Amino acid sequence: MVDRELIASSADPPLPGAEPPGLGFIAVETRALNLWYGRFQALFDVNLRIKAGCITSLIGPSGCGKSTLLRSVNRINERLGYVRTTGSIRVMGQDVLAPSVELIQVRKQVGMVFQRPNPLPLSIRDNVLFGLRLHEPDRHRRRSEREEIVERALRTVLLWDKVKDRLHHDATALSLEEQQKLCIARLLPVKPVVLLMDEPCSALDPKATEAVEELMWELRGEYTLIIVTHNMAQARRASEECIFMLLGRVVEHAATDTLFVTPRAKETADYIEGRYG
Ligand SMILES: Nc1ncnc2c1ncn2[C@@H]1O[C@H](COP(=O)(O)OP(=O)(O)OP(=O)(O)O)[C@@H](O)[C@H]1O
Ligand SMILES: [Mg+2]
Repeated sequence: MVDRELIASSADPPLPGAEPPGLGFIAVETRALNLWYGRFQALFDVNLRIKAGCITSLIGPSGCGKSTLLRSVNRINERLGYVRTTGSIRVMGQDVLAPSVELIQVRKQVGMVFQRPNPLPLSIRDNVLFGLRLHEPDRHRRRSEREEIVERALRTVLLWDKVKDRLHHDATALSLEEQQKLCIARLLPVKPVVLLMDEPCSALDPKATEAVEELMWELRGEYTLIIVTHNMAQARRASEECIFMLLGRVVEHAATDTLFVTPRAKETADYIEGRYG
């Protein structure tokens, strides 16, 4: 799944302080990333190296830029005409902001799920196949191949046994947990490398949250997951690395245990101890 050739061909030397090559394979790397909404600067000099196959959580008080950073990775911010970005964002070694890169390719490599599950008002089966049809409209697939794709995606998100007898039912009738899993399943047929999740459990009850966290854990390894969460307990349980942001800047990026047990910055300690945010 991970394209080592692309990383190896990355032209720029690693950032100062970054780990030596070979120790952790990097899926997403930002350098001097700045972003403005009109005249308002929302991200300042963000330099990050996010490990492939890991779950990395983004935490920080409301308005600190978590969603903005997440949405930069698949360039979804650009739908707003007044957004300006400088710096670079490499996904598997390729700068997704480069003029030669096609947006559709970026969206294929980098899938995204949102706070509220947003299945299309179509059948469960057609939801899973939707992205594939969008990305490869001219490619004819045999029915058996389509069925296989649907089954594989639904099995991966631990939904197959629940829905296999009602694939033609309307997806919007599923429970919120099932809808969120379906929204993840719908990304998989186009073979993304990175999955972005912006507070994927905030609309779910505790049991459904646990189920989606279990799924995230299943997906790690094959996919690189970057999740935004306001829930400190979730960041601790469900991520291996954690990034703390404040006022558009990255304050600290560390292994989750390290960040929670021995944070380097006072601001991080104050936040995780609930002193603000
Ligand atoms: N579409 C937009 N237009 C203008 N400003 C925006 C837009 N989206 C976000 N901002 C501003 O950019 C800053 C970062 O917002 P962002 O939504 O990324 O924060 P966040 O950390 O995700 O917050 P929350 O935890 O509340 O979701 C905030 O000051 C916000 O008001
Ligand atoms: Mg947000």
